[in-house]
Amino acid sequence: MSLQDKVVIITGASAGIGYDLAKRLATEKATVVLAARSEDKLQHLGDELSAGGTDVLVVRTDVSDPNDLNALVEQTIDRFERIDVLINNAGVECFCHFEEVETDEILQTIETNLTGAIVLSRLVVPHMLQQGSGAIINMASTAGKLCPPYGSVYGATKAGLIAFTLGLRGEYLNLGITATAICPGFTRNGGIYDRIVRATGKKTSLALGGTSTKAVANAVLKGIHSGPPEIIVNWPPMRPAVVLREIFPRIGEKLTTAVSRRFLRRAAKMTSDEKNATTSENPDQPRV
Ligand SMILES: NC(=O)c1ccc[n+]([C@@H]2O[C@H](COP(=O)([O-])OP(=O)(O)OC[C@H]3O[C@@H](n4cnc5c(N)ncnc54)[C@H](OP(=O)(O)O)[C@@H]3O)[C@@H](O)[C@H]2O)c1
Repeated sequence: MSLQDKVVIITGASAGIGYDLAKRLATEKATVVLAARSEDKLQHLGDELSAGGTDVLVVRTDVSDPNDLNALVEQTIDRFERIDVLINNAGVECFCHFEEVETDEILQTIETNLTGAIVLSRLVVPHMLQQGSGAIINMASTAGKLCPPYGSVYGATKAGLIAFTLGLRGEYLNLGITATAICPGFTRNGGIYDRIVRATGKKTSLALGGTSTKAVANAVLKGIHSGPPEIIVNWPPMRPAVVLREIFPRIGEKLTTAVSRRFLRRAAKMTSDEKNATTSENPDQPRV
């Protein structure tokens, strides 16, 4: 499937992986619909892409708000009359000590990373069925394959996205709609991981490896073109660790926890410190 004139919705296009991906889709001559909450950043990107000749629609969207998702689909159909690709990329991280995570953070993480993607897909699939074709790309994570310590809520949303992808495939593949879960490792040149590294001054263990926004964009294009169930984007390859954990759960668990624990404990401590600083600045602020 060439992307020339294909209409692609991408959520979370204002920063990190989504921002670089939107630029890449534009070079592939796709028509892009940019969605996120930061309208100024989206507009800036939209202007840049339009100046390069790309047909762009910018729609301020909070993916945790079903009204916004309805408006995103309606505006896309009004303007382009079809949706060829949906990239559910918007996401928030939640690396913290589980006993400290607040209820509203849990809900926000699930609503942004998982519910938003499911509801938006539900709104888009009827249009794809009518067209007889479409591709849904869900930006999961290696955390959805090997949920790390201090990332249980985040990992649960990503595992949910992987399961959701499989369900869609079973139902729609023979009707022309593919679904692919992309599972990037820590992405070193922008986005969530990069911010943690800059804040803590520490990187992950070499054994855990990582990836780049360019490699993630390549995987998304492969997902759109050939529609595999899942692409793990990481160097060194991570699938052997996933298989090891399936065959020997305890050994696999020890290995994967050992390589990720130290880094993510630092990320969790950073979250605790930030919360404590906010609470001491605003002692009356309620903790949910
Ligand atoms: N970076 C990594 O190492 C890594 C690894 C594996 C998977 N991932 C996944 O890749 C995706 C992109 O992550 P990233 O690293 O690029 O993160 P990022 O730099 O923090 O960007 C996140 C994007 O999601 C948008 N977003 C957040 N909450 C939203 C909401 N409620 N409604 C609409 N948009 C929302 C943000 O835009 P606004 O704030 O403007 O709304 C932003 O555009 C996420 O799903 C993440 O879980 C990242």
